[in-house]
Amino acid sequence: MITLGIESSCDETAAAIYDGETLLSNIVLSQIELHKEFGGVFPELAARRHLDHLIDVIDKALLDANLTKKDIDLIAVASSPGLIGALLMGVNCAKSLGFALNIPVIGVNHVEAHLFANFIDTDKEVLFPAIGLIASGGHTALFLMKSKDDIHLLGTTLDDAIGECFDKVARMLDLPYPGGPEIEKLAQSGDPLSYPFKTPSIKNAPFHFSFSGIKTKILYTLYGQNGKRDTPIIPKDEYKNIAASFQKTVFKSLLNAVKKAHLEFPARSFLIGGGVSCNKALKVMFEENLPSEINICFPKKNLTLDNAAMIAALGHYKYRSDGPSPRDFTASPSSKTTSLSFCV
Ligand code: KG4
Ligand code: ZN
Repeated sequence: MITLGIESSCDETAAAIYDGETLLSNIVLSQIELHKEFGGVFPELAARRHLDHLIDVIDKALLDANLTKKDIDLIAVASSPGLIGALLMGVNCAKSLGFALNIPVIGVNHVEAHLFANFIDTDKEVLFPAIGLIASGGHTALFLMKSKDDIHLLGTTLDDAIGECFDKVARMLDLPYPGGPEIEKLAQSGDPLSYPFKTPSIKNAPFHFSFSGIKTKILYTLYGQNGKRDTPIIPKDEYKNIAASFQKTVFKSLLNAVKKAHLEFPARSFLIGGGVSCNKALKVMFEENLPSEINICFPKKNLTLDNAAMIAALGHYKYRSDGPSPRDFTASPSSKTTSLSFCV
């Protein structure tokens, strides 16, 4: 079954072709340059840019796969969560194409799809039960995966997503958007032990996260608690040490939650997904600190950031059990509409 995946939930316009076993093509058109001057994603511009480029990106995905529209059997599209205007572009495009070609369309959850990136193009077998962690610009969430169909949300961030926190701290350090890769680069020459920031944790909620406190801590470190926000009180050559210490601190909070989840729900595998998971220091920390009995899975780098391959893989899988989405399905910005349940 040839599945066309479409992703437009934020600032990547993406299409991919997946045949159920092999990824035949994977096209991602990034909008980073468009949003750089705003220091973050400008939702209205993102939606307009998707509208301009979706068809070209789909055509390129078909060309790379050596197929035509007539070969598509199923269309999978990210329908939640995300920026509503951006999501609607992908969903309406998928529905129109599905109607024109008379083929089924399925809307899938973007966050769940990040977990499914671990099942594409890999020799590593995921053993269940597994603990899944999403660390992206829009989400930070911990899951217990009893199987591919039985996924429970254990915890989530109570304020900022971890990637959002990277982007905001990067701005404080005069680094461009997106901040994650910039902080990773700067941190490589810094000492992660130079600023002993407190690892964020939530009392009596070991699987939840909070990243707003560390953000404020960095602000105060840079400018003093009551200082002017345009006059840093520490020299610029200290920024690398702040970047390294910040990165280590927030990754430690992810690691702590995963370890606690493993204590309560012993897992055979650990899966991760989302843009932050392409950070090498994060991978090293998890590989060095998770118990050796856990099979650690990271997706390929091009599948960690937003992409349509993961949408196609999840849609292909779900269609077999759930069938197509109803004709009147639409986009939703909220993850509350997901099939992922909130208790164990
Ligand atoms: O998964 P993604 O592409 O989009 C969402 O679903 O949100 O993640 C984007 C986020 C951005 O916040 C970006 O700064 C962060 O992932 N990111 C990184 C790295 N590369 C991207 N964070 C830390 N280290 C990186 N190397
Ligand atoms: Zn994402």
